[in-house]
Amino acid sequence: MPEALNCLGDNAIFFGRRPEKLLEFGTSRRLAINNTPPYKFAYARTALKYGLKARGFKPGDVLLVPDLICESVLEPLDALGFSVTYYPVDHSLEPEWGRMKGLLTPQTRALLLVHYFGQPRSIAQSLAFCREKSLLLIEDNAHGFGATYNGQLLGTFGEIGISAPRKSFPIQNGALLHLAGSQRPDVTSLQLQPSADRSFWRRVKKWLQLLAPAALLGHRRAGVEFRRRLGQPLPYASQEAFRDLPLARDYGMDADVESFLAEQNLAYVGTIRRRIYRIWEKWTKTQGLVPVFPELAAGAVPLVFPAWAKSAADSLQWYERGHRAGVDIHSWPTLPQTIVKENGGAMRCWERLVCFPIHQEMDMQMLERRLTLL
Ligand SMILES: Cc1ncc(COP(=O)(O)O)c(C=O)c1O
Repeated sequence: MPEALNCLGDNAIFFGRRPEKLLEFGTSRRLAINNTPPYKFAYARTALKYGLKARGFKPGDVLLVPDLICESVLEPLDALGFSVTYYPVDHSLEPEWGRMKGLLTPQTRALLLVHYFGQPRSIAQSLAFCREKSLLLIEDNAHGFGATYNGQLLGTFGEIGISAPRKSFPIQNGALLHLAGSQRPDVTSLQLQPSADRSFWRRVKKWLQLLAPAALLGHRRAGVEFRRRLGQPLPYASQEAFRDLPLARDYGMDADVESFLAEQNLAYVGTIRRRIYRIWEKWTKTQGLVPVFPELAAGAVPLVFPAWAKSAADSLQWYERGHRAGVDIHSWPTLPQTIVKENGGAMRCWERLVCFPIHQEMDMQMLERRLTLL
C-alpha cells in the first residue's frame, strides 16, 4: 500500500469537489414552480438556451465566447443554430480586450462573459464594450452560485445570466436563469430528469447494503474512499475528462432541489469557500504554483482554487499527487472540438491549469493536515 494511504487510516476522507452525499429525491417528484425570475432549470446550458430564445436570438446570430470554455456551453448554441466567434482570455482569465474589436461582424449580437470559478470578471468593462458595440451581455456564472460584485448577484448585470448551484451543492440538478427586461422564457415544455436513484442496479445495491452485517456497513464509507483512491485516477490530462453526454431533453429543476436551495445560507457558504481558497492560495505559493487570480474578490464564491503549473508535465504530477493523497486535484475543462483542433492559446492554458477542490463541508483542520501528505 502506498505510504500516504497508510497514514490516513480509517479516518480517510476524500477531499473532492462537492460534499459527498447527493440529496436524495423524494418519491413524489415534481418540477419546481417556475413562473417568476430567476427561472429554474436542471442544467445551466438549458437555462442559457431558454434565455437566448426569450431574448429573440435568431439562427445565424453570432456570439462572442471565450476560447477557454467547456464544450457543453456550445450545446444550446448549436441546437439553436447560432455561430460562435472565440475570443482569447489572458492569464487572469479576463477577456483580451485589445483583440475583441477585430472579431466583430454585423452578425455579432452578444458577448458571453464567464465568471470563471466563481470570481467576478470585469463587469464594468464588459458593460461598456457591449453598450458601445450594441451587443447584449450574457453572464455565465455557472461556477459561482451566490457570488456578488459590489453587493449585486453575478448574472444580474447583463441581459442574460446563468448560474449552476448543482456544481457547488450536493444536488443532482439545479440551475438558474436571470433575464433583464420584461421577456419571459416559455418553460412549459420542461421535463423532470429521470432519477439516477431509480435505476435497477442502484436499487439492488441498496438492498444488498441493507442485508450486509452492521460491521461492514460501518466501514462502507472508508471502503469507498479507499477504493476510489486506489482505483484508476481520473483522466485529467485528457480532453475526455469532463466530457458530458448531450442532454436528451430540456429538464427543469426538481421541487426538492428548490426547497433545498432555499434553506442554504449563501453568505456562510461563501465565507467558508473563501477561507478554504485562502488555505490553498497560501500553500500552493510555497509549491511553485501561481494563482490564476492575483486577488480573491470580496464577493467571490470560489468553486475551486485555480493555479498555473509550470508545464503540462508539472500539471500531470499534480493530478497524480492529488490522487495518491485522496485530494481531487484536477484539470478544467473539456474544450470545444474546434479549440482542441486549433491547438492554440486555450489548449496551452488548459495544459497548465490545475484546480484544487473546495466545498463548504470540507473540514479545514483536516485539510491542513492533508497538505502534509501532498
Ligand atoms: C463555465 C460553464 N458554463 C456553463 C456550463 C454548463 O453547465 P451545466 O453542466 O449545468 O449545463 C459549464 C459546465 O461545466 C461551465 O463550466
